[in-house]
Formats: sequence, structure tokens, C-alpha cells
Amino acid sequence: MKQLITHVRLVDASTDSPGALLIENGRIAKIYYNETNPHLEGVAIIDGGGHVLMPGFIDTHCHLRDPGLTYKEDMESGMKAALKGGFTTLVAMANTAPVVDNADKLKANLDKAKALDLCTLVQNSALTENFSKDRLVDFESTRKYTQAYSNDGLNIDDTDTMAKGLAASTTYDFILATHCEPETATVQRDIELLKEKGGHLHVCHISKKATLDAIVKAKKEGLDITCEVTPHHLYASGVDYKVHPPFRSEEDRLALIQGCADGTIDCCGTDHAPHSHEDKAKGSPGINNFETAFAMYHKVFSDHSIPLTRLSEMMSATPAKRYGLQGGLLAEGSVADLVLVDPQAEFIVEPNTFVSKSNNTPFAGEHLQGRVLWTMKGGAIRYDYGQTL
Ligand code: NCD
Ligand code: ZN
Repeated sequence: MKQLITHVRLVDASTDSPGALLIENGRIAKIYYNETNPHLEGVAIIDGGGHVLMPGFIDTHCHLRDPGLTYKEDMESGMKAALKGGFTTLVAMANTAPVVDNADKLKANLDKAKALDLCTLVQNSALTENFSKDRLVDFESTRKYTQAYSNDGLNIDDTDTMAKGLAASTTYDFILATHCEPETATVQRDIELLKEKGGHLHVCHISKKATLDAIVKAKKEGLDITCEVTPHHLYASGVDYKVHPPFRSEEDRLALIQGCADGTIDCCGTDHAPHSHEDKAKGSPGINNFETAFAMYHKVFSDHSIPLTRLSEMMSATPAKRYGLQGGLLAEGSVADLVLVDPQAEFIVEPNTFVSKSNNTPFAGEHLQGRVLWTMKGGAIRYDYGQTL
């Protein structure tokens, strides 16, 4: 089947051009630059209405709560919420019940994702068994199912465990993603370990200027370190709402925005962390982000005159590159994981309309700009404005 998406503004990390895009058998067959309505025979037309067509977003950090915490979210509700947010690939964290820490548990989640056929799943393995202090998981067997390891939710307190984890990330060629608490001191420790041991480090949800400064310095020294931000740490400061890391100062927020503008921050993740009302009341940290992430990022980027190409780089191209994934760019031959957005459309955050099973957010009533109109996965539209197919 051939489908032609006409009348769009094509935007990815390096493109911003009017055009059209032909899809054949779930892949991008041809891209028409500066030609929005090419005449082709035997194609189904999808009129893009002058909106922005981007590569599907790839989230480097989310919590799908599956298995075991499915009253907060499950893989199906999480992926449907993600598709509504324009995400086609998700890197899910391992802090489920039980913790995903062996090949069988990884395989079970990958099989579940395959059967659902919603988003592509990269399932993190824990670095240590059941998030223990120092019992590393079996890398040989787990690496067959994942390229991502993290004890996210918890800091890796034990320096020797972190050193062994980094060494393993070289031996087995994977990304070790860290939740750092205290943030800056832990990142500084890990940078010293990277210097000694090498390794592939991704620092989750950075929130402080001092952390970014340390990472910038480490990058200049040639270390393999990347980092991500979250929508909430870029969008707001000083908010009294429990999340790890907490909302920081306005100075920190502005430094993070600068890091997005100048290229020193690599990825825009979500840290989508759904929790029930009861769990929030008991103090669980986290914000439900899939359905507002793009608009929150878009608002901040446009307020600070950071181009959409850069947002696409941070939400698609760099995550794909870092995790060795398909997609991430508008390129002929690439999988047709795409999102159509209206950057102008304004809306008010209404958590009671979330597709997610939970609706924990401090941003109810907030005016945002930038709406996902539809999300396409492998050539099939899987979310259409207002309803999940
Ligand atoms: C996350 C969660 O709820 O699992 N919470 C959060 O506040 N970010 C854990 C995490 O990402 O650290
Ligand atoms: Zn975390």
C-alpha cells in the first residue's frame, strides 16, 4: 500500500521545509522537498493540512508500571497515552513489581509490547538484582533483550557497583542510565569512574545548573556521557509538587533551557511517572507527562526562540542514535514512525481527559501551545486527535 502525506512542513533535526512524504509498506519511500502536492497515481492521500510532520518522538525515560503496578498504568494504557503524546518508541524503566532484572522478565515485557503493537519498547534491565546494593544482574543473558540498564528511581550508592556497571557497559556495549541523588555529587563521582573505567553513561532527568556544568566539562574531555531533561524541569521552577528530582530554582531552569539551545543537553525525555491519587497522597514522587510533554517543550522552546529542528533532534534523532534505534529522522528507507503536530494550536491541560490510567500533574488548567494531531506507527495512524484507534 502506498500513502502520500501532502501539504506538510517537514521538520526533523536538520530539515525544515514544505513538502510531502510517500510511504510504502510501512517505510518512508520518498520525500518531496518544496513540493507539497506531487501528482502520483494509485496512492491514498493523507492531507497534512499545512501542519508540521516530524519523526515520532522517542522517550528515553518513562514508567509503564507493568508488571505489578498496573493500577497506576499498564503497558496498554501507557502506550496509548504515549501515542496521544506523539511518542512511537519508549525506553521503559525497570522499577516495576517485580523489578525487571533478568532475561525472562525482559522477554515477558517485550512479548507483551509486541502483542499490543502500539509503541516500540526498549525495556531497561535493572543494573542490580532487585535493585540490591551490589548484586549485578547477569549481563550475558539480559543483553540479548536490551541495550539499556538502569536502577532508576534509586541512586547507585555503592561506588564499586557503579564502577563495575560502567565497565560492563563497555564489555557488553550497553547504555547505563542513572538516577542521581544527590544529583551533582553523584554525577561528579560517575564522571571520575568514567575516566578510570570508560563506559557509556546516560544521566537521567538532570535538574541543576551545576550538574550540567559537570557534564559539559566531561564531554569536552571526550567521555561518553549523555543526559536528558524532563518537560517539568524546563517548564517550571519552585513548584510545590513531589517529584524526583524536585522542581529547582529559576536559575537552574534557565541554565537547562540554555543547555537545550546550545546543544549540551542531549535528549528531551518525559519521566512519565503515573501514580494513583492514593499513592500521591502517601508521598509517591512523579508527574504524568506523556500527554503534555510535547506542548510543554514546545512552549519553552518557542518562548526562548529555540527552533523546532532542535526539539526534533532532542525528542527523536539523538535518542535514536544513543539507543541504536530505527527512526528519529525523516529519511528515505526509514520506518514510517511519524507525528503530525499543529504548533500553533492552544489547549488547556485537563487531567481528567488523560488516556493514562492516572492523572497526577501539577499543571491542570495550564495553557499550552502545540497539539499532536495524529501519530503514525509503521505507516498506520494509531492515534488521531481526540481518539485512540
Ligand atoms: C519516578 C517513579 O515514580 O517511578 N518518580 C519520579 O519522581 N521521577 C522514579 C524516577 O524516575 O526517579
Ligand atoms: Zn529517576
